[in-house]
Amino acid sequence: MTTTSDAPPDDSSDALADSTSDASLARSIARSAQIGKDLETDPGQFRMLTGDRPTGHLHLGHYFGSLRNRVALQDKGVETFVLIADYQVITDRDGVDHMRERVFSLLADYLALGLDPARTTIFTHSQIPALNQLMLPFLSLVTDSELRRNPTVKAEQEATGGRPMSGLMLTYPVHQAADILFCKANVVPVGKDQLPHLEQTRVVARRFDERYGRAGDRSAPVFPQPDALLSEVPNLLGTDGTKMSKSKGNVIELRMSADETARAIKKAVTDSDRHITYDPASRPEVANLVLLASLTTGRDPHTIAEEIGDGGSGGLKKLVTEAVNEHLAPVRARRGELEADPAHLRAVLAEGNGRADAVAQATIAEVREAMQMVYA
Ligand code: TRP
Repeated sequence: MTTTSDAPPDDSSDALADSTSDASLARSIARSAQIGKDLETDPGQFRMLTGDRPTGHLHLGHYFGSLRNRVALQDKGVETFVLIADYQVITDRDGVDHMRERVFSLLADYLALGLDPARTTIFTHSQIPALNQLMLPFLSLVTDSELRRNPTVKAEQEATGGRPMSGLMLTYPVHQAADILFCKANVVPVGKDQLPHLEQTRVVARRFDERYGRAGDRSAPVFPQPDALLSEVPNLLGTDGTKMSKSKGNVIELRMSADETARAIKKAVTDSDRHITYDPASRPEVANLVLLASLTTGRDPHTIAEEIGDGGSGGLKKLVTEAVNEHLAPVRARRGELEADPAHLRAVLAEGNGRADAVAQATIAEVREAMQMVYA
């Protein structure tokens, strides 16, 4: 029997503690830039995984912040996995609140935006037992102090306003490591807020091989260490000029009708200067509307602002409303058709879950083998 040691097997606990340090951030940014280039020349070497919590309906912030890029990567030929993270919903709330409806609404949003289930595997946590099973060995590879230091967990915990920390909240970064590693994804498109989870995932992958891995053969690790893909995200604000958030009622959802969109934009905050300019620093609310028109038309924001000129906020809102509604019309039409065919949505999810399950079973078989837990 070997002796146990309290010390981590390598110095990676420091790497995790520093995951938000300047040096670590610089490394992530540099790696991400390199991957951005490699994705152009050789998309076939990547397997991408990303996910969303099914907590609401997708809005324009999600669309321009991440969904648009995901679809572009899929269309470039990157093998793509998209997780509807149903178990992650219960990290910070007490109930499951319309879970089923939200999962299917998210799926409809995905398909309407162009994720193609023939090429992209869309799946849910709850239907992939072998993915969840990975959490057990992975939990043995992290310390409770590491988890308590995770800046994202801390921020999310604070946002619950005094709700006691659940075991799942504390350990969900490890579950997220299982999300990424079950399919051996090597690239994960995320925002900066998710970098601590990615660093945790890298630590888990590394330690797995050090402790349980194919001993003596470091050239064939069981798990790759994935990298973040940090894309340029436009700083789109809500219609009131503050951070977009569903709870503030300042978002434009993909599923809204053209009339609802017009009403939301009509309520948008502007300022008293009739002459429209694109000046994010001193006129954030007006600039945000111009940016929305720019994103939906693909035109330069300064040119758009100049064209409106003395048209005032009325002219600006009219143009933005038309631009958004025109851009979203085909997406909304497709979404409507999808919602009218729940049997099709169920079939798409069943197929994605089937594919993900096969991948997860192959991985857990390797893990059992590495951990000397094959008894047949
Ligand atoms: N935590 C992510 C979010 O809140 C969702 C998510 C779950 C995820 N598992 C993932 C993202 C794996 C990337 C990779 O948005």
